[in-house]
Formats: sequence, structure tokens, C-alpha cells
Amino acid sequence: MSARVLVTGASGFVGRHVVEALRAAGAEVCAVDRTPHPDVPTVVGDLCDPAVRERAVRPGLDAVVHLAAVTSVLGSVERPAETLDLNVAATAGLLELCRTRDVGAFALASTNAVVGDVGAGVITEDLPLRPLTPYGATKAAGEMLLSGYAGAFGLRAPAVRLTNVYGPGMRAKDSFVPRLMRAAAQGDGVVVYGDGEQRRDLVHVADAAGALAQAALGWPSGPTIVGGARSYTVNEMVAAAREATGAEIPVEHQPARPGEMPAVVVDVTRARSLGYAPTTALADGMAGVWPDFRPDLRPVAVGGTA
Ligand SMILES: NC(=O)c1ccc[n+]([C@@H]2O[C@H](COP(=O)([O-])OP(=O)(O)OC[C@H]3O[C@@H](n4cnc5c(N)ncnc54)[C@H](O)[C@@H]3O)[C@@H](O)[C@H]2O)c1
Repeated sequence: MSARVLVTGASGFVGRHVVEALRAAGAEVCAVDRTPHPDVPTVVGDLCDPAVRERAVRPGLDAVVHLAAVTSVLGSVERPAETLDLNVAATAGLLELCRTRDVGAFALASTNAVVGDVGAGVITEDLPLRPLTPYGATKAAGEMLLSGYAGAFGLRAPAVRLTNVYGPGMRAKDSFVPRLMRAAAQGDGVVVYGDGEQRRDLVHVADAAGALAQAALGWPSGPTIVGGARSYTVNEMVAAAREATGAEIPVEHQPARPGEMPAVVVDVTRARSLGYAPTTALADGMAGVWPDFRPDLRPVAVGGTA
């Protein structure tokens, strides 16, 4: 029989790809989000409302993939209390419903921001949790709740610590890859802080979504880092975007910002031991993001003149 899986935040950037990956793996998928998912039954509402959670976590589910969150670091600094409500209190409410309704597994989309600043060191799952923002702190708190429910109630509760996710469907996002694409589309440039030699790990959304689906369907409890397994300098990312778009994308260098990590380099050995194998190279991945931003491919409003 196919697994029945609830995806929270299914209509978001990562969520749409997770729904696809779960369906490709044969799962029966339902969703909860503030906006309906186009392809799967969705409970529409705010997960901070206990009644919405009650409707979403219906008996008979096998697993939950929990993606809905305040996802912006900056947003979490501006609105820490709201971040706590959704990222921690609503997560705790969902876990409690899983316990009382016999849902066997709960996969959380987490982040490497739970470990804070590790300088130029390689990030592994063994580092202590030392988040430096409300976003990182609430994801760390979520991981701790999962650990407690795994320990006390036997819930299988993997936490997937994603690096920077990129890929098709990023039009609403404001991270560096969509900024590069927007600049290319508008004939603008981008600002790079420092010399651009700082390294970042980028994971393609298809790889990230595949990992989250597999986590829900079988990974063990505890944290697992999921990244592209290769870090690129910001300068290399600009070069890949220029190649994918054919645009010049001039760079304005500004002084490095205090506190910016010199490198994000992750070790994905644990994920690989669970079957994870990132497949998308940066050049191909960038080329796949571009169609969402290309001015000549932008949809024209029906009946409109734009
Ligand atoms: N995108 C990344 O680079 C990245 C990196 C690390 C971790 N993550 C984590 O992955 C998850 C998904 O990220 P994303 O980039 O797809 O985010 P997103 O903002 O694109 O999607 C989030 C979805 O959750 C829904 N949502 C938000 N608040 C809600 C609420 N109160 N009630 C119901 N639905 C709500 C939104 O409507 C949206 O569809 C998040 O938990 C995020 O912290 C993302």
C-alpha cells in the first residue's frame, strides 16, 4: 500500500518539488498551506491555528514532511515572536497530533544555521548547536522537539539540514541566485560583499526535495546534512549565472559585512550513507532557473496588454 504523507508548506518553493518527489516515489500526498497546492488536496489555513493543524493531521497518515516556517533569517530578526510561534509552537502542536493520531514519522526541513559561525571549518552533524539568529534558534528548537518525541514515543523523526536551495520556482525568492537572475533579466548588476572568494554550498531543489521525501519514507531520527557537496565561491556563482543567461551581470564590490561566514562547506557523508547522491551540477542548475526570469518567457496576463 502506498504511504500517505502530509506536506506542510507544500505550495512553497521546496514544497512543490517535495510533493513531486513523494508522488514519484508512489506516495499518496496531501497538503496544508496558506495557499492551495494546484495538484493535491490541501487544507488551507494558518498552521498557528490549532484547528487547522487538527484538520491537516488526520488519522491514517504515515508521515509528515514539515516545511512551513518563517524561512527568512532577516524576517526572523525583525519578527522573533512570530518566528517562535510558527517554527516552534506550531511544530510542537503538529508533533503532539502525530503522537495522539499514530503518525509514525515526521521529517523537518532544518538548516545548517543551527550551528552558527564555524569559521572556515567543515560543518558536520556532530557540531554543537550554537545558532546566532532567531531563525537558527527556532530550527534548533524544532530539532530538539523531534529528538524528544523520537526518544519518548518512538516517532521516527529525521531533521534534514539543507544548505542554500536553488532551482526552478524561485521567482518569489531573494537569495543570491534569484538576485543574479533578476539582474540578468533587467540588465542590472549585483553587489558582492568582499572579494567574492567566500564559499557557499548550493543544493539543487530536486536533490533537496528527493532527500526530504526519502527522509519521510525511511531515514532514521536525528540530523542529516543535505547539500550540493561542493562549495562554490561567489565569483564562481556569478560566472555560472553569466554563462546560463548570456548577460554581462556587472559586479559592484562593497566592503565585507562584519560577521559574514568566510565559508559554508558541509560534509554530506551521513546523507550519502542513506542513499543521497546530489546529481545537478551548478551550470545545469543555473540554466534551469533562468526560464522563470527570462523576460521573453514571462507569462502575459490574460486579456491584459502587459
Ligand atoms: N530555501 C532554502 O534555501 C532553505 C534552506 C534551508 C532550509 N529551508 C527550509 O525549507 C523549508 C521550505 O522553504 P521554502 O524555501 O520552500 O520556503 P517558502 O517560503 O517558499 O515556502 C513556505 C511555504 O509555507 C507556507 N506557510 C508559511 N507560513 C505558514 C503558516 N503559518 N501556515 C501555513 N502555511 C504557511 C507558505 O505559504 C509557503 O507556501 C522551510 O522550513 C525552510 O526553513 C529552506
